[in-house]
Amino acid sequence: MSKEVKDYSKYFVAPDLKSAKRRGKSDVQVIRFEQIPENMRNAGAGKKYMVETYGCQMNVHDSETIAGILEQIGYESTDREEDADIILLNTCAVRGNAEDKVFGELGRLKQLKLEKPDLILGVCGCMSQEEVVINRILRSYQHVDLIFGTHNIHRLPFLLRNALFNKEMVVEVWSKEGDVVENMPKVRRDGLSAWVNIMYGCDKFCTYCIVPYTRGKERSRRPEDVLNEIRELARKGYQEVTLLGQNVNAYGKDLADGNYTFGDLMNDVRKIGIPRVRFTTSHPRDFDDHLIEVLAKRGNLVEHIHLPVQSGSTEVLKMMARKYTRESYLELVGKIKQAIPDIALTTDIIVGFPGETDEQFEETLSLVREVEYDSAFTFIYSPREGTPAASMKDDVPPEVKKERLQRLNELQNEISRRKNEALRGKVVEVLVEGESKKNPDILSGRTRTNKLVNFEGPKSLIGKFAHVRIDQPQTWTLKGVWVDEKATDQSGGIRNGTHP
Ligand code: SAH
Ligand code: SF4
Ligand code: F3S
Repeated sequence: MSKEVKDYSKYFVAPDLKSAKRRGKSDVQVIRFEQIPENMRNAGAGKKYMVETYGCQMNVHDSETIAGILEQIGYESTDREEDADIILLNTCAVRGNAEDKVFGELGRLKQLKLEKPDLILGVCGCMSQEEVVINRILRSYQHVDLIFGTHNIHRLPFLLRNALFNKEMVVEVWSKEGDVVENMPKVRRDGLSAWVNIMYGCDKFCTYCIVPYTRGKERSRRPEDVLNEIRELARKGYQEVTLLGQNVNAYGKDLADGNYTFGDLMNDVRKIGIPRVRFTTSHPRDFDDHLIEVLAKRGNLVEHIHLPVQSGSTEVLKMMARKYTRESYLELVGKIKQAIPDIALTTDIIVGFPGETDEQFEETLSLVREVEYDSAFTFIYSPREGTPAASMKDDVPPEVKKERLQRLNELQNEISRRKNEALRGKVVEVLVEGESKKNPDILSGRTRTNKLVNFEGPKSLIGKFAHVRIDQPQTWTLKGVWVDEKATDQSGGIRNGTHP
């Protein structure tokens, strides 16, 4: 970073990608979130906050923690920006377009800041961990009051105090990962379905990916902390938890007793009385047989695995440093399908990786045909400054990348539609989340396989399980008829969940 930037203020701790890349040997400490300092306990009384979240589930859950801290200080939530006294953008750095959206939003909010000079405008999340982003904010977005990173969310009360009582921009971003902080307050999105972190960070360093730099080294929460949190959620009436980690299959490897694996954790979670347990994301490389055995016991462990493949070409996978081959991925998929024949598999795919040839892209298409994913998130490769792939030679023209994305999406949509068509006439178990976004007369929820189902039924079903016969399967959603009101006809194959 330039000297000019480093000397900016005494409230300035800036990120640095080189330190973020280093993986220290020192043990990670588990600390408990401290009480809100005396002089901040009422700082938000009568004031409102708004958090805008970009990016993955990890960020969504971090926003729940941020909201929890702000509410402990006395702030109330609002979704009207003109009413907000503090607006925080919890950002994502994974692709250029995610970042562009945030800069657009920061530019737009300048007007509001001019009208309301006391408004605290903050930026947190993965973008704050990037030097280039901090420099750009300092250069062109001086109306930002507060920047903090992904490792020091628990410091928010102190940082906010500085931002409230000082005129200068407060920046505190740690490049070396922090400790595992337990006992953080959280405001969860609903009383139905909860995110639960099982680990933080990523050590995989796929060559295209910024996440290991923005989230630090892999740190697992202790099994008893994870299990206690899930037990508590079950007691409070939650029906579903989603266990979160950038690579959940690496769970436990960093703990002092390195013998307790993700499979062991899932086996223990299976015994907790919560009806549905999901997890995301699992890296194919560390997906072991023990985990497959445990998942095959089903019960509250649902029949859905998100298994990002990224490419169907072994050569491209090698350049991506994914550390598996097309063949070993397909072998893993074969084992999973054999153990759990009705498994729904979803994936992430990047097209247009530097130098990807037509033949290599065709291999991705053929892999997609072979695996038959239920759905896929597909992306055009986006260079991320500081990652190895960003300096690889890229001779694939943008139009070719776009065309590849389109061909891949057409193929995947055809497969999704075909898979959903196979559910026509079947009865599925739906956890009813609420009214459908488009039509309040329609209820909407998800199957164990994470498919969205819309159907007509009484509002009293919200938060409960319902059985729905699928009569209009579509590409991305299923429409159906609620059957619990009649004598339930089980011939359609109601899934064997453990709920009442
Ligand atoms: N930890 C997860 C991925 C998190 S990022 C995993 O490994 O499965 C989510 C997805 O974004 C990735 O799976 C990848 O498909 C995509 N992605 C990451 N970096 C990208 C980049 N530079 N350009 C395009 N897509 C990218
Ligand atoms: Fe990124 Fe790879 Fe880590 Fe996933 S496993 S977060 S793609 S580096
Ligand atoms: Fe984005 Fe950070 Fe998640 S870069 S995808 S918000 S870990």
